[in-house]
Amino acid sequence: MLVDCCIENAKIYFKGNIVEGGILIDNGKIIKIKKNTSLIQSDHKINAKNRLVLPGCIDVHVHLRDFKLSYKEDFYTGTCSAAKGGITTVLDMPNSKPPTINVNILKERKDIARKKIVINVGFYAAVPSEIEKIPLLVREGIFGFKLYLHHPLTKINVEDENELIKYFSEIAKWNIILAVHPDDKRTIEKNLSLLKGKNLSPLEIFLKTYTPEGERIAIDRCLKIAEKTKARLHICHISTSSALTAIQIAKKRNLNVTCEVTPHHLFLKIDDFKQWKSYAKTLPPLRTQQDLEALWKGLKEGVIDIIATDHAPHTIEEKEKDFLEAPPGIPGFEVMLPLMLTMVKHGKISLDTLISLTSYNPAKIFGLKNKGKISEGSDADLVLVDMKSQDIIKPELFCSKAKYSPFAGWKVEAKIVATIVNGMLVMEDGEILAPTGSGKILERSDPLC
Ligand code: DOR
Ligand code: ZN
Repeated sequence: MLVDCCIENAKIYFKGNIVEGGILIDNGKIIKIKKNTSLIQSDHKINAKNRLVLPGCIDVHVHLRDFKLSYKEDFYTGTCSAAKGGITTVLDMPNSKPPTINVNILKERKDIARKKIVINVGFYAAVPSEIEKIPLLVREGIFGFKLYLHHPLTKINVEDENELIKYFSEIAKWNIILAVHPDDKRTIEKNLSLLKGKNLSPLEIFLKTYTPEGERIAIDRCLKIAEKTKARLHICHISTSSALTAIQIAKKRNLNVTCEVTPHHLFLKIDDFKQWKSYAKTLPPLRTQQDLEALWKGLKEGVIDIIATDHAPHTIEEKEKDFLEAPPGIPGFEVMLPLMLTMVKHGKISLDTLISLTSYNPAKIFGLKNKGKISEGSDADLVLVDMKSQDIIKPELFCSKAKYSPFAGWKVEAKIVATIVNGMLVMEDGEILAPTGSGKILERSDPLC
């Protein structure tokens, strides 16, 4: 048998077990998982040296920037950074400049991305204020609509319940995910007015503006409207115990709701602002130890469906501004998997749960066909990890343009050795091997479209 590529001497995560053997890849797909690969002829052989081979991570919440924000990140540096972190597919958020609010901008974004990306990239669009644009964007293959409830990208009156019902209903028709940034415009405005004249530190002002109450109010509102309209609601980056409780209750009542958590909300808390200042500034903000513990519980109990980085790169100059001026956002591509695998080693989470959260569930929820698991017929999107190797997080070595991290100096006990995308070896030992533009633009295909 002659195939394009054969990964040999691997410990493969296959159907919930670790099996020793090899993976045969042809035409970008896994065609066979085989115990003995000695008789296989292939154009390319990868010796896994008995390391673990896992499905590549699917990161459903990323900001690749480019366009007028390419000084922060572009499609090449962003996707190289993802590949270095073991991520093989990402979904790009619409708050670029200009934002992804119509078909023309989306097409332009795809055209630029096509020439630069080294992994799989799909797109979100913002919920457009002109409702008739919703089906047009769906037909262009987006994987979800994004709504920033505190600061919409289009002229939607997010305070008006009936208006939201209108948009939720239209999106529901297309059986596509509606992802929301859970914060509440009115609560933020009320908080800001209460803070006026008070003698508070910039950090206190920030934390008292973007509060757990705002997050909870937004989630409660969305759940109510989603129940009424049958929209497929996905709550982005939940950060509090209270948010989790609301989602848990909604799930028990069989509402169609999913949610994600970021690595920074799982590992960092308010105390970390002392050391990292604006480098730890993100929205939603870091919260308390109790919130952090509740999120871990939510992961283990299956209330949280997905871990997503919310990779949000900015420049060092921007992050060096005064705390209230500095933009929120933390680059996450190159830290998520090493941090989480370290927790697997420590027994804080099982490998099964981790793979569900980073590969299987994202593929299932967002309708990424043939992705999220290692099986015959699946796309050959894989990551090779060394669970015996130690490493230290060094942002100066990131492929991302954003060479900062509140995880700088953290010791991790697993290393991402290689990343394979559609059968191509994209990253090995920290080096990007794939040519610019070798990645693939993904488009959602749905029988309804
Ligand atoms: O911290 C954040 N950064 N939260 C967001 O919602 C946006 C993001 C960004 O684009 O920088
Ligand atoms: Zn985001």
